[in-house]
Amino acid sequence: MKSSTAFLAAVLPSVAFGLISDKMKAKGKLYWGSALDPNTIAITQIANIAATGDFGCFTPENSGKWDATEPARGQFNFTGFDALVSFATSHGKLVRGHTLVWHSQLPAWVSAIGDAATLTSVIQNHVSTVMGRHKGQILAWDVVNEVFNDDGTFRNSVFFNLLGENFIDIAFKAARQADPNAKLFINDFNLDGPGKKIDAMVALIGRLKSRGVPIDGVGTQSHLILGQVGGVAGSIQRLATTGLQVAITELDVRIPKPVTAATLQQQQTDFNTVTKACLAVPQCVGITSWGVSDKTSWVDSTFPTFDSPLLFDDNFQKKPAYTGVDSALN
Ligand code: G3I
Repeated sequence: MKSSTAFLAAVLPSVAFGLISDKMKAKGKLYWGSALDPNTIAITQIANIAATGDFGCFTPENSGKWDATEPARGQFNFTGFDALVSFATSHGKLVRGHTLVWHSQLPAWVSAIGDAATLTSVIQNHVSTVMGRHKGQILAWDVVNEVFNDDGTFRNSVFFNLLGENFIDIAFKAARQADPNAKLFINDFNLDGPGKKIDAMVALIGRLKSRGVPIDGVGTQSHLILGQVGGVAGSIQRLATTGLQVAITELDVRIPKPVTAATLQQQQTDFNTVTKACLAVPQCVGITSWGVSDKTSWVDSTFPTFDSPLLFDDNFQKKPAYTGVDSALN
């Protein structure tokens, strides 16, 4: 005779057991998440998957960025961001805000600012207005994004050029004031192994903390390449030495074309490895994949020789990669 658990598993739909964000929570994490926005919510299959327990947190893929929210100075537009937050909250999901101060998707009027005082007040007003919009409803914000070059030097931007490193202090202080309940993150890519960039990130966080800058977390985007995920576990451990929360904020594992059964199998292993890397570190609060389905990934246009980076395929079916995550959580 079957045990009662086996019996239930046989008679109930698998959704009652197998959903990865629910399983992350059962492991003490906060969520498995995804990038999402009105353009992807409009795809019925994606909205249906996003509503399940596979996803517990959404990051606005583009609608929270400066070009979307403040296209002209002092003129704010929250159409897309409001829709994303409304979808999330009406389905009982969390939101990670993304992103307040970033050199990219930055309107020309900001880049044209020529003096430190004006830029300071523009940053403060942007942060306080955008964060104030859904104050109390956002789990965490990527306050500053991608401040480093790969060699660990600061990236040239209007922010760094006019204010030096202090632009980061200004943004975080404004963020804490705007929504004291939101966890404040610094976020970057290519932190997935040892090197000058992660060294620079850890050193910067040390300086911010010693100056009393309010910072709660560090996000590692983890836009990964098939078979090149071996450094992730060590990186998460290293980032956790800062004492901050750690989150994997934009996970995908892109596969060189042509995609084969063997490479999909390798991707399963890679997603399994990354999931276990977060599970192994108490400070790792959650994992966000950068989209639900391969149908709408940024990889298609940015890396045309790669494909299929996510957990659900072009037909919105679970891939081996999904099983890789799921088995890490069992
Ligand atoms: O909204 C316009 C639309 O009006 C126009 O018709 C269309 C024509 O190309 O472009 C649309 O804007 C695009 C936007 O995505 C929304 O779809 C931009 O061209 C396109 O460049 C933009 O790409 C986004 C990219 O950030 C921009 O840097 C990707 O969707 C988004 O996934 C990607 O996300 C970033 C994270 O924010 C930070 N880390 C890296 C990650 C991947 O690049």
